[in-house]
Amino acid sequence: MTKLSVKHLLDIESLTRQDILTIIDTADNYANGHVSLDKLSRRIILNTFFENSTRTRLSFEMAAKKLGAQVMNMAVESSSVKKGESMLDTLQTLNAMRPDALVIRHREHGTQEFAASIMDCPVINAGEGSRAHPTQALLDALTIKRALGRLENFTIAICGDIAHSRVARSNIVLLQKLGGIKIHVIAPASLAPNADEFENIETFTSLEEGLVGCDIVMMLRIQKERMDGEDVPDDAAYFQQLGLTEDRLALANPNAYVMHPGPMNRDVEIAASIADMEERSLIPQQVANGVFTRMAVQELLINGQ
Ligand code: NCD
Repeated sequence: MTKLSVKHLLDIESLTRQDILTIIDTADNYANGHVSLDKLSRRIILNTFFENSTRTRLSFEMAAKKLGAQVMNMAVESSSVKKGESMLDTLQTLNAMRPDALVIRHREHGTQEFAASIMDCPVINAGEGSRAHPTQALLDALTIKRALGRLENFTIAICGDIAHSRVARSNIVLLQKLGGIKIHVIAPASLAPNADEFENIETFTSLEEGLVGCDIVMMLRIQKERMDGEDVPDDAAYFQQLGLTEDRLALANPNAYVMHPGPMNRDVEIAASIADMEERSLIPQQVANGVFTRMAVQELLINGQ
C-alpha cells in the first residue's frame, strides 16, 4: 500500500517532494476514472469548519462519500464552542468518539497542529488563517499538470492579495518543492508578502510587467475579512489597477491559462468575461480536481495508518 511520510496533512512544508507527487498521481488516477468505491467504506470522517466555506467543505464531503466513507459535519454555530467550551475540551470530546479522520478549518494559526497533538486519527488542514491551505495547493498542482501536461518548465504568476492568502503561501511552497518552476508574485505594496518571506520568486507591482512570459495566471481575492484595521481597497479602484482584463491577459504567453481558487469577485480581481472563457479558464477544473485531490489525501492518510 502507498504511504505518505506523514500521519497528518498540516501544511505543504511537512510533506516530502515524494509525498506531493504521490498525492498528485493518486488524484490524477481518480481523475482518469480509476475509482474504487469502497476504499473508505465503514470509515467515518468528521468535518469541523470553524470558518465559512462552500466548495472546500462540500469537496471534502463529496470526496469521502465517493470512496464509501460516511461524513459528519460538526455544526459549529450550534455547538458547545458557542457556550465557551475550550478548543482542548472540544477536541478531546471529538477524539473520544474515535473518528477515522478529522478535517478542520480554523482561522487561528496553530489550531490544526494542536488538533493533531490531541487526536489519535489523521488531521487534515482545510484552511488555516493566512498560513496554510495544503489541499488547495495540491489540487492546483494537479490542475496545472492536467492542463499543461507537465509539472515543470513553466512560469506562473500569482496575483492579488498575497499578504493575507493561505492559498498563495501553500502554492509557493509546493511549487518550490517541485522545482523547475518560475514564480512571479504580483501585488500592490500593501498586499505583498514580506520581503524576506520567500526566496527565488520575482515580485512585481503591476500585471503589465508581471504577466509577461507566464503560462499560468492565478488570481486571488482580496481577503477583506483578514484585514483588521487595515485600509481595505475600493473595488473599482482595485479593478482599474490590478484586475485581470482581456488586454492584460494578452500580455501573458499565448493560450496562458487562468486560475482562481474561488470564491471570486467578478470585476474586482478578475473580469467576468475571463472567468467565463472556456478555453482559458481552469476554474471549473480546479473544483473538479479538488474532489479527486481530497479523495487521494483522505484515502492515503486513513488507509496508510
Ligand atoms: C480560499 C480559502 O478559503 O482559503 N478558497 C478556497 O478554499 N477555495 C480562498 C479565499 O477564501 O479567497
